[in-house]
Amino acid sequence: MRKMKFNLALLVAFTLVLTACSQPAATSAPESPEQSKALELYSWWTEPHEEASLNALLQVFKQQHPNVKVVKSGVPGSAGTGFQTKIASRINSNHPPDAFQVHGGAELTVSLAATGKMEPLNELFTQQGWIDTFPASLVQMVSKEGNIYAIPVNVHRSNVLWYNASLFNRYGLKPPTTFDDFFEVAEQLKQKGVTPLALGSKETWPATQLFECVLVGTLGPIDYNKLWSGHIPLDDPRIEQAFNTYKKMLSYVNPDHATRDWRASVQMVGKGEAAMTVMGDWAKAYLSHELKLKVNEEIGFATAPNTKGIFVAVVDAFGLPKGAKHPDATKKFLEVAGSIAGQDALNLRKGSIPARLDADMNKYDAYSKQAMEDFKQNHFSPSLAHGSAVPPAFLTPLNQLLQRFAADGDVGAALSAFKQAARANQIGTTK
Ligand code: GAL
Repeated sequence: MRKMKFNLALLVAFTLVLTACSQPAATSAPESPEQSKALELYSWWTEPHEEASLNALLQVFKQQHPNVKVVKSGVPGSAGTGFQTKIASRINSNHPPDAFQVHGGAELTVSLAATGKMEPLNELFTQQGWIDTFPASLVQMVSKEGNIYAIPVNVHRSNVLWYNASLFNRYGLKPPTTFDDFFEVAEQLKQKGVTPLALGSKETWPATQLFECVLVGTLGPIDYNKLWSGHIPLDDPRIEQAFNTYKKMLSYVNPDHATRDWRASVQMVGKGEAAMTVMGDWAKAYLSHELKLKVNEEIGFATAPNTKGIFVAVVDAFGLPKGAKHPDATKKFLEVAGSIAGQDALNLRKGSIPARLDADMNKYDAYSKQAMEDFKQNHFSPSLAHGSAVPPAFLTPLNQLLQRFAADGDVGAALSAFKQAARANQIGTTK
């Protein structure tokens, strides 16, 4: 009997501990009216210039909803490094935040929406009349089988070449447009003792992003898109050609690239320690707000080599997970995030362009005006490195194989690892 009582007490204690562990802290204490309205916003924009963009959006939200408290949380690390695993574990353990940041495309549609983790937002889209104000390409990136699962807040471009204008002027160089031009310019810079191309591959995505620019520049936008939708054979010789071009490009980067993050590589160009870098246009915000450089004067921009006429898009979006504690307040946040005022506040600071087609171009600088124009006119390709073209299950081995490749330059090994990871994810075809 005593033993039974003891076991029962143990069981009760164990259950209590388990319950406490699986509940969000806020539910264990009674909430004040203010707290009960606090919505948790989960994001990886924690670096100063990126957080400033999110704060600008939240400022608009605060003006419109002064009584709703927003608590920012998240995981530091650029491009969502480390974030995706954390968000998946919070969602899978039924402890989701209210709203969270996600890339439009496979990262959202394959990993989260397809497994029933997200609330559809079609009603919000219809109420706000957004179907016509967001481009179809973006709506498709956040949709699965007719349901819309996130609100795109911006469009970044990954295939941008930033260059140090005074170095280019000093050596009488023009920004390269083709791969051949690039190697010619790079060789001249090397001869002068200048690092031609800055790379910061401490986190894996900047190297993958450089590879994506080479791949889309080699296949062209139509076949690049077809590769991910399974309509280009994995033994297409152009994939090997892309690895070879990428390898040659790596021979012009700073030898310490594995110790630098993306900002440290952009900084090299800012300081004139390297002449060029290929980086998404969040670099514009970093160059102008943190390094205090004049983009379009001190720092020039062009499309990455061989990608003229192509817009490689990185789309940030916010979605509402199932089981969020404050769905109504979250929908209010999403409403602001999708509004012109919200998108202007975020994008004027972020370097990206608004996801909406009806934003006022006049508010934006020369770089963004050009990006808006290109977004409308160019071929649209989803970014590989930023979770849009392929799901994380493919992106993880791809990042790893590219990291190995940067060290050993073994094209055969990289190609076979690429094919293996692609097949495992039903990407590509062997037809
Ligand atoms: C991208 C993201 C951008 C920016 C960048 C660097 O993945 O979409 O908004 O955050 O990473 O952190």
